[in-house]
Amino acid sequence: MYSSKVHIMDHPLVAHKLTIMRDKNTSVKDFRELVSEIGMLITYEATRDLPLTTKHIETPICEMDAPTLAGRKFVVVPILRAGLGLVDGVLRMVPSARVGHIGMYRDEETLEPHPYFCKMPKDVAERDVLIVDPMLATGGSAAEAIGEMKKFGCKHIKLMVLVAAPEGIAHIQKLYPDVDIYAGAVDEKLNENGYIVPGLGDAGDRIFGTK
Ligand code: PRP
Ligand code: URA
Repeated sequence: MYSSKVHIMDHPLVAHKLTIMRDKNTSVKDFRELVSEIGMLITYEATRDLPLTTKHIETPICEMDAPTLAGRKFVVVPILRAGLGLVDGVLRMVPSARVGHIGMYRDEETLEPHPYFCKMPKDVAERDVLIVDPMLATGGSAAEAIGEMKKFGCKHIKLMVLVAAPEGIAHIQKLYPDVDIYAGAVDEKLNENGYIVPGLGDAGDRIFGTK
């Protein structure tokens, strides 16, 4: 059976930036900027298989058939709130992308996801979907978001996170073996409160300064 691939960013820039983010003394401003920057770097990897076509152009030297994106439709879907931090990094790489929003919070006791908002472009079923969230912990929130996108009829779905726990990866792979995961790093485990260890704490609070 097909099993989703996990693409872990093996890049010194990502490793360096993640270390700054993990540091509890990093400011909200720096943390937010780093989420965006790493988002851009992971997008580079997550879009590696975008189809190309050619376009006839004239350089200052000669004519040529040059590669250009085949124009497949693309939608980035942040899981609110923390996923919002990744959107501008993706849009800097794919400026024509549409943005769909899924609002979800995780119950602190049960760790179950609770959806509260969903707004997608009308033609979302025809688009390649990139769901973005900094954290993949138990995987409950991401699995719920993937399920929503499948209900809309989406067929090509990828998940992009900054930090993943092995538990979250296993959960997505079991439920959605067709969804590839792009992660900045895979950490050791979850703690008893469902936080990723060593992790970077509560990503939403650190992006928006709500703690
Ligand atoms: C965080 C994070 C993910 C979720 C991950 O969001 O941004 O959405 O938890 O946990 P899971 O894999 O166990 O579901 P949170 O619920 O804290 O909401 P927020 O983004 O509004 O802070
Ligand atoms: N959500 C977060 O923001 N951080 C974690 O470590 C786990 C879930």
